[in-house]
Parts: sequence; structure tokens; C-alpha cells
Amino acid sequence: MKHEHRPIVTVTRRLPAPVERALLAQFDARLNADDTPLDAEGLREALRVSDAVLCAVSDRMDAEVLAVDPLRAQLLANFGVGFEHIDLATARRRNIAVTNTPGVLTDDTADLAIALMLMAIRRLGEGERELRAGAWRGWYPTHHLGRRLSGKALGIVGMGRIGRAVARRAVHGFGMRLHYASRTPLPAGEAAALDAVPMDIDRVFAESDIVSLHVPSNEETRHLVDARRLRLMPPHGILINTARGDVVDEAALAEAVRDGTIAGAGLDVYADEPRVHPALLALEHVVLLPHLGSATVESRTAMGMRAFENLVAWSEGRALPDRVP
Ligand code: DGY
Repeated sequence: MKHEHRPIVTVTRRLPAPVERALLAQFDARLNADDTPLDAEGLREALRVSDAVLCAVSDRMDAEVLAVDPLRAQLLANFGVGFEHIDLATARRRNIAVTNTPGVLTDDTADLAIALMLMAIRRLGEGERELRAGAWRGWYPTHHLGRRLSGKALGIVGMGRIGRAVARRAVHGFGMRLHYASRTPLPAGEAAALDAVPMDIDRVFAESDIVSLHVPSNEETRHLVDARRLRLMPPHGILINTARGDVVDEAALAEAVRDGTIAGAGLDVYADEPRVHPALLALEHVVLLPHLGSATVESRTAMGMRAFENLVAWSEGRALPDRVP
């Protein structure tokens, strides 16, 4: 849709400076100078007064918020690839287009999944906590033994962009063996290059030393990892989650680590962020990061520019490059 005036774009959070500069140059951009998250009423107000809203995973655009009346916004340009915080059915009904930022954060999120694997299997968080607590007694041969990552069997659940980037690192960087469960199978050439074996998801849990999750959050994936699937894993098994918290039954995971069903976990995402399930916080063998998958200057700038490009396309009446169906 062409605009006579500069469209009003409300930006719900602070963004890297080059992105904010680009937004200010192109739009009547309303920035969030002190980065205070908007509550439901703040989001409704943004939808009432703006032509478009650049929002993020911390903004719950649920049916109630999107029911705002009067509604002015025609586009939600989401800063991020996951969009489960936006009620797509209501957005569609209210003629609000939604875009996301695929591709630009793939490598950094995959790097973080590998970092979590290393942290969990080599017990690096525990080691750092010991040293900082002044409890390190010096080097000795049996001090703080972890296990080797190289050569282990990795199970990937969800072979989208990020799953594939993790697979490449694991196979080519660490000589890991690869099984996977995915709705869309790997293209033949890629499967051959990675020596990747497709399997039923339960078998992936049963046959992997480490399982790494790379599925979106939706009705089908909620608690995909529950007590039963965790019991399929070997006792030395490790679960890695850089996808979304609600894919895992967190209470069941905490119980499985606590009682030795599996050895540990590496988590970057939680069902009720920023709250972390207290039972997980109590476990030494669980590595907990604060949703840092795409937290690099490079990714966050690219994500912002991608959201910006979608806004520009929309304001010029062009097809949206990253329209979410
Ligand atoms: C994503 O892009 O989905 C990240 O988790 C941040 O929202």
C-alpha cells in the first residue's frame, strides 16, 4: 500500500543503532528510548496509532491485543524468526500482515547450540562456578571430568535452516554421527554429505548421545519432549534446546536430570521467559543461558535490517519478502 505521508512505525524495543537510524530516515518511527517492554495496553495503543509495528518475541500479540478497536496497524514486522507470540489467525482476520526474519540468525543460533553441547558435556558451567567460588584446588588428573563431544551420536529434531547449520558443524567440525527426525527430509545431496540417517522421533531419542531441538513452537510441538521421550534416552544423554521453551516439559526434564534418567541439558529458551522453572535452576548439570541464540551484533543488526526491508516493501506496496503465511 502506497502512503502519502511517512508511515508511523512503532518500534517496541531498542534496536542496534544502524537499524534505528534506517527506520528514522525512512519512516515516522516511534522508538522505545528506554527499552521498557510494552504491556498489553501499550501494544494495543501501538496498534491504534501506528501504520505498522516492529515487534519482537517479548511482545505478546495475542487475540485480545489484536482485537483492539479502532485498529490502524496493517503490518507486524517481527524482529525474529519465531512468531508463536503472534496470534496469526486473529491477525489474518483483522487484515494485519505479519513478517519475520529468517536466515540471518541461522549461523549464530547454530553456534550457540554447539556451545551448549560443549558446556553441558564438558561441564564447563560447573567448572567456572567452582573457580569463581574460590573452590579450585589446582590441577589434578581426575578433576572435574566431562566427556568428549567429538564422535558422539547427535540427534536433531527439526531439519530446517538452523537444524541443518547445527548438523554441518557437528559432522564436519566434531565428527559426530547424525540421526534426525523432521517433517521435511534433507535433500539427497545434503543427506549424503552429512551421512544423515532419518528416523522416527522416538528412535532419535533412543539412539542419540545428544538430542538438539530445532522445531518451531506450535500445537504439535508443545511438550514434544516429555517424560516418556526422556526415558528413551541413554543415561549419559544430553538434551539441547535453542528452539522454544514450551517444546519441552520443563518439570519432566528437571526430574529426568535429577533422578539420572539423563545426564544433563543445555537450555537457551524457557516456557515462561524470563522465568526459569525453579527445579531447573537447582540442577548443576543443566546449563542455562538467557535466550542468547541470535545475540550477536551481526545477527541483531541483520534481523533489524530484514524487518526494515519488509517495512519498506510494505510501504511501497511491494510483495513482502518474508510474509508469514
Ligand atoms: C527468534 O528469532 O525467534 C529468536 O528466538 C529471537 O526472537
